[in-house]
Amino acid sequence: MRDWPDFSGTLYEEAVARVLRSGCYTEGPETAALERQAAGMFGVDPGRVVAVSSGTAALELILRASHWLRPGGAILMPAVTFTATAQAVEAAGYRAVLCDVDPERWTLCPADAKRRMNSQTVGILSVDLDGAKPDVAGLLELNLPIVSDACASWGWCHDRSFPMASSAYSLNQTKIAGCGEGGLVVAESCLVADEIRALRCFGEERPAALRRRADIPGGGNRKMTEMTAAMAQVSLSLLRSRIERARTNQGILWLGLQDQELIAAPAAAAETALHKFRARIRTNRKEAEFALAGLKVPCQHREVSPLYAHPGLACYGEGLGFPNAARFLRETVVLGSRGQPLWHADPMDVGRWSQAMRRFDDKVTSKEVRNV
Ligand SMILES: Cc1ncc(COP(=O)(O)O)c(C=O)c1O
Repeated sequence: MRDWPDFSGTLYEEAVARVLRSGCYTEGPETAALERQAAGMFGVDPGRVVAVSSGTAALELILRASHWLRPGGAILMPAVTFTATAQAVEAAGYRAVLCDVDPERWTLCPADAKRRMNSQTVGILSVDLDGAKPDVAGLLELNLPIVSDACASWGWCHDRSFPMASSAYSLNQTKIAGCGEGGLVVAESCLVADEIRALRCFGEERPAALRRRADIPGGGNRKMTEMTAAMAQVSLSLLRSRIERARTNQGILWLGLQDQELIAAPAAAAETALHKFRARIRTNRKEAEFALAGLKVPCQHREVSPLYAHPGLACYGEGLGFPNAARFLRETVVLGSRGQPLWHADPMDVGRWSQAMRRFDDKVTSKEVRNV
């Protein structure tokens, strides 16, 4: 089997050939068709979906177009996410305030977010990390506007967490619905979607109702190409079967590892399709990596780190203030590589990873005992 991303096959080839034959490479029928398809999939008004150039652009434009946010205000977000989440907040003119994650879910912890709220706080940016489901009820209780970063999570898109909030999705090739680079916005309303549609194209053709707003400058170029839109339609049509594969592989790992207490999956994992399966490690990372490589178990270490551990983002806070996020970094490892993500890996291989993980644990535990 080819490694991910695997866009071989006639469906993708036909999509690309269709665009080449059309002679239209931007702002054409493929982008419109993708938006209609995604709206059908999400069960929302087609006017609420906007295709843009990346997931980061989707987040930034949502934040710029959401009228209830006060520019310059502080946005609460989890310390464990990809750097793009914080970068989009800053690019949209807000201040990112990192919060610790829930120890069971690995998503934004409502109690910690509440502690960090003050008069500057204007909203929440919730992240469904790798398919993990956030504490929806807990976050809603904070009574703040919410934006959802679902860039790394399409697994439970049919049961969207915050149906009335704007959500950003990534079509980057490392993602389950990937096709190269691209992003989708599901906006909270058609009005916000219209604003984002204008912002993705230099801020031109802004809806009349919004034209008087001087605080939103022109948006630059965040358009999706027609080639991307055509490929993304194929990816969305294959999403169901990829989600099924992720669920199957998640089930295999769950069954194989649960009695060893090697699972670090979030508490609500059964309700979703995880994009990445996290195993618990009881040793330091270097040793774990070494042992797993020896056992031929692919793993991604530090694929997503707490943001304060990122060399360029230390200004956001220190590790000491985020004990759960620090534990997450220390104690978990993602099974499967970029080339063999959960939605693509052969279930037979995943069964072998699970068996090898049990040997890995024996190895590490006995070594620890010897060292003591
Ligand atoms: C949680 C999260 N947010 C945002 C992004 C950014 O998406 P993109 O790479 O499409 O800009 C990613 C991408 O990995 C992500 O994982």
